[in-house]
Amino acid sequence: LRHLTTLENLPRETIERLLDRAESLRDACAHGTRKLDVLAGRTVLNLFFEPSTRTRTSFELAARRLGADVVNFDIGLSSTSKGEELFDTLHTLEAMHLDAIVVRHKRSGTPEELVRHAMSGVSVINAGDGNRAHPTQGLLDALTIRQHRPDFGNLTVVICGDIRHSRVARSDIDAFTALGVKEIRLCGPAELMPAAGDMPQGRRYDDFDQAIDGADAVIMLRLQKERMASIELPDEAAYFARYGLDRRRLALAAPGCLVMHPGPINRGIEIASDVADGAQSRILEQVGNGVFVRMAVLNEVLAR
Ligand code: CP
Repeated sequence: LRHLTTLENLPRETIERLLDRAESLRDACAHGTRKLDVLAGRTVLNLFFEPSTRTRTSFELAARRLGADVVNFDIGLSSTSKGEELFDTLHTLEAMHLDAIVVRHKRSGTPEELVRHAMSGVSVINAGDGNRAHPTQGLLDALTIRQHRPDFGNLTVVICGDIRHSRVARSDIDAFTALGVKEIRLCGPAELMPAAGDMPQGRRYDDFDQAIDGADAVIMLRLQKERMASIELPDEAAYFARYGLDRRRLALAAPGCLVMHPGPINRGIEIASDVADGAQSRILEQVGNGVFVRMAVLNEVLAR
């Protein structure tokens, strides 16, 4: 791969290679305690036009653990605030000889636009564009599940919450479909479900008790209010009563069902605190795996 903008149509072998590499890099850097030098002399730019805690930090750690230099572009202090166009910013930064740009933007399709407009050989990695794709999140979610439930052909995964606005859901579905997950269930209120024809792979549910019945993994999503223009939502208590993951609902799932969330979590709205922090929660494992998946992706696009 030269760029990673989406998991859509990525072959199973490519996804499995990235997951395998994430695990071998994790071992090679002794879980992050040892620095490697495979990307020594390379420069990675974090170009985040939307806020991020997990993705930005883990891309920075991943690049540093591979020996690369990292620049964190500060949008607030940049000339973007003086009206500089995105592609002028791109060309300006390219003139400083970058090897990879990790980009997050509210507009879907921005990573592909950067690929088309780039004038150097810079690699573009999507760190989340609008509601369309978050490919490294899809990979780290697949890796986290694989570490506990490697038999994807017998796996039922539920994704619950604001699916309509979720780039995580789209990339998860792309990854799970490619890897042969037996059943993907999508659950949420009608106004937060994807439009007809969007996400055809998932079986849709309105009733969370039915959706979670016998599930092996459940991925909870927050309400992305920043992407909702005109949707009237139920109040938070009513939403939690219908679509929140609490202990009673988790008991309907298969024993040991993996509890996952891409973060940031909103406690008491989509997930109860005792479940988010409970024995079945894999949420912090997802975060840890994010570093190794991002190392694998940087290694993939830059080791040429
Ligand atoms: N999962 C995720 O993308 O988290 P951040 O917004 O904190 O990067």
